[in-house]
Amino acid sequence: MPSNTHNQSRVLIVDDNALTCEVIRRNLELTGYHIFSANNVETAVQVLNRQEIDLVITDYKMPKHSGLELIKYIRNHQKNICIIMLTGYGSINSAVTAMKEGADEYITKPFTDRELLDVVKNTLEKQKEKKINPDVIYTDAWDKFGIIGESLNMCEVYSRIEKACKNDATVLISGENGTGKELVARAIHYHHQKRSINPFIPVNCPGIPVSLFESELFGHAKGSFTGAVQDRKGFFQAAEKGCLFLDEISELPLELQAKFLRVIQEKEIFRVGESQLKKIDVRIIVATNKNLEALVDKGLFRQDLFFRLNLINIDIPPLRKRKNDILLLAKHFAIKYAEELGKNEPAFTDKAIAVLKEYSWPGNVRELENLIHRTMIMNEKDYIDSVDFPGAMKSNLSFGQGLTLSLEDMSKKYVKDVVQQTGGNKAKALEILKIDRKTLLKKLK
Ligand SMILES: Nc1ncnc2c1ncn2[C@@H]1O[C@H](COP(=O)(O)OP(=O)(O)OP(=O)(O)O)[C@@H](O)[C@H]1O
Ligand SMILES: [Mg+2]
Repeated sequence: MPSNTHNQSRVLIVDDNALTCEVIRRNLELTGYHIFSANNVETAVQVLNRQEIDLVITDYKMPKHSGLELIKYIRNHQKNICIIMLTGYGSINSAVTAMKEGADEYITKPFTDRELLDVVKNTLEKQKEKKINPDVIYTDAWDKFGIIGESLNMCEVYSRIEKACKNDATVLISGENGTGKELVARAIHYHHQKRSINPFIPVNCPGIPVSLFESELFGHAKGSFTGAVQDRKGFFQAAEKGCLFLDEISELPLELQAKFLRVIQEKEIFRVGESQLKKIDVRIIVATNKNLEALVDKGLFRQDLFFRLNLINIDIPPLRKRKNDILLLAKHFAIKYAEELGKNEPAFTDKAIAVLKEYSWPGNVRELENLIHRTMIMNEKDYIDSVDFPGAMKSNLSFGQGLTLSLEDMSKKYVKDVVQQTGGNKAKALEILKIDRKTLLKKLK
């Protein structure tokens, strides 16, 4: 019996050297970890998008993409995974760089079994302490905030929304496309103790030409530039006593970041063409789908502004990280569009549910909403089945859409799909395929 307390942890090993992968795999498997492996960064990313992974052990030097690039990818997408970097003997510089990019630990080759096990155990232990542990479990988020979702990481989001409703601190909302950043911003505003009766003004930063940015944000006086035919209030004044929501803040040009910082610090603005300062009382919420910290490191986003914005940080997890919410959301949208289209609320077949849960949802909640909407327009039945979904959604579950393959080719393709889906975990693949190791190797060849 494995004595390790982390024996449920899933570890992904990434190394172009198959032997290193195998050695680490055997060592960790014996201790009870669940192992996946990948020989390059592309495959690693595929595994990460399909599987919940707790720890990645990655080599530094690999032919096409380096371990460093993998770290950046992980930190930009899935912050809760711990990372151990394997570095060559004497390359302390690469270890330092790796830690700077977000690796939790590094281990120098060659290492003993004991060293590896200790580092893995300690890293996972530290991570566990950091893992989200919401104070309150919310089951009424829909009634309370108009947001669907009961997963633990959404409970953490709700608890932060509640905090943000009680004060005027700036809020930085981060999350991939379509995760609900604007929905959360609105929830904060419309539940705010004092501000909710005043305007919520959303501004899409990339939508405003740089030359007009100041006049759009701060307003301008008549005649201050060609085309300024009358006085104009900017977004800040329009949001007076309410909330200004700046979407995609990472796109704010560097030259304007300094001005913006001054405005939120001093709480006063100059209208373009005027020398008199105007006091403002506006709550600022910003959103980004990029990793602002990484942009700060690259010198593309001012660090002082980042700190000033990041007083309350709300990170909305991607849909694939809250699989339990997928069906709740799908049903919610089914009810919404049934009403809109004058139809009955459809049921979901087991196959449909399986596809919804397994799909990786690059477009997150918005993609799910569009899918349900489209399916309900096209579908005359009173239930939704997997056949109603686009083929591409099902390709990582079943074996393709066309009926053009021979049985032999189909069987090979299926074996390949299973091996890929299990992240190269042969034991798991054998269990699913119910064949022996020899047959598997033959088919893979
Ligand atoms: N948890 C949720 N419950 C209910 N509806 C949601 C949820 N999350 C997102 N939505 C819906 O999904 C759509 C996308 O949400 P929203 O516009 O807030 O996302 P976003 O993160 O701002 O997207 P983008 O990155 O494209 O700006 C909206 O119609 C929103 O109402
Ligand atoms: Mg948005």
